[in-house]
Amino acid sequence: MRLLVTGGAGFIGSNFVRYVLRHSDHHVVVLDKLTYAANLESLKGISRERFRFVKGDIVDPAVVDDLVGSADAVVHYAAESHNDNSLRDPRPFLDTNIIGTYTLIESARKHGVRFHHISTDEVYGDLELDDPARFTEQTPYSPSSPYSSTKAGSDLLVRAWVRSFGLQATISNCSNNYGPYQHVEKFIPRQITNVIDGVRPKLYGKGENVRDWIHADDHSSAVLTILEKGRIGETYLIGADGEKDNKSVVELILKTMGLAPDAYDHVVDRPGHDMRYAIDSTKLRTELGWKPQFQDFEAGLEATIQWYRDNEAWWRPQKAATEAKYKEQGQ
Ligand code: NAD
Ligand code: DAU
Repeated sequence: MRLLVTGGAGFIGSNFVRYVLRHSDHHVVVLDKLTYAANLESLKGISRERFRFVKGDIVDPAVVDDLVGSADAVVHYAAESHNDNSLRDPRPFLDTNIIGTYTLIESARKHGVRFHHISTDEVYGDLELDDPARFTEQTPYSPSSPYSSTKAGSDLLVRAWVRSFGLQATISNCSNNYGPYQHVEKFIPRQITNVIDGVRPKLYGKGENVRDWIHADDHSSAVLTILEKGRIGETYLIGADGEKDNKSVVELILKTMGLAPDAYDHVVDRPGHDMRYAIDSTKLRTELGWKPQFQDFEAGLEATIQWYRDNEAWWRPQKAATEAKYKEQGQ
């Protein structure tokens, strides 16, 4: 297949590009606007034999239409992805996540091109800490932040295009990813790079909030599985049974980096902060036979810490500006 991968210069999109080129014969064109969140270095070293990069905005129908028209499938990762930014300035989230998705599905419908929409577990809102329930494909939508509400809106657009126009689409909703090449604004890379810089990690509120961690490679293998074997019109939840509270993750980072586990600070909480996410990925596992490869979070985290130690040139240019934004918010 000729795949058009939007957002392929971001964290998870670039992981997917490397994964697909390693594990299939598909050809890949990346379409990416190169926002602050992108890093072309994440695609460095990839052979041009089956890969091409195009700089462009998914909101622009002229750019999108040519590329979608010459693809067999679109894998749509491009998004404004950070909750804290969406609370500061929601507008880019509406433009990219809603109008950008609309622009792509209109083009995919016109050309009859297969579409896979990448989404998040945050569309389901949050769970109580002591709730035995986990999110399933049947959980009602209840997003909390400008980010998650625009992702929910984009999911609903895709569903409506499937039903009303016969768009050949699937959707996946994944939990929190970790691994190499993640922007230093996000929780795990922010704390690792703070420790490297001799700065104490910052925990929002009490640090009781739970996220369901999955390695980015496992997210990529799940997306490739859905693209190749998923049933059109279906939604699949992606998760690897990785629930951890934020305090435990910070303690583990500190311990692994040779510091006292309590050498962190509590800072101002995120407004509307979702308490807990938890994914039940039974449908994906039983129907499509997918399973995660990274089941040992400690080992995965240790390798991620080593990657940030070894690749300072990759993240250093973004660090000071990112921390300046957090400082303005007391975080
Ligand atoms: P990211 O912020 O690291 O990367 C986003 C990429 O999209 C960047 O390269 C950026 O330049 C590009 N982009 C943004 N606006 C664009 C536009 N208008 N046109 C073209 N390109 C544009 O994000 P990420 O963490 O890699 O997330 C990728 C996708 O996965 C998103 O759709 C996100 O909602 C979803 N997701 C993320 C997670 C997670 O834990 N990070 C979990 C589940 C789902
Ligand atoms: O669940 C999937 C989602 O995971 C994706 O849809 C989003 O794109 C992705 O950014 C992520 O959202 P979160 O808001 O959960 O991730 P973030 O890395 O921003 O924060 C993870 C948790 O850590 C959250 O409870 C907030 C907390 N946190 C975050 C930062 C940056 C801190 O305690 N301190 C911090 O410095």
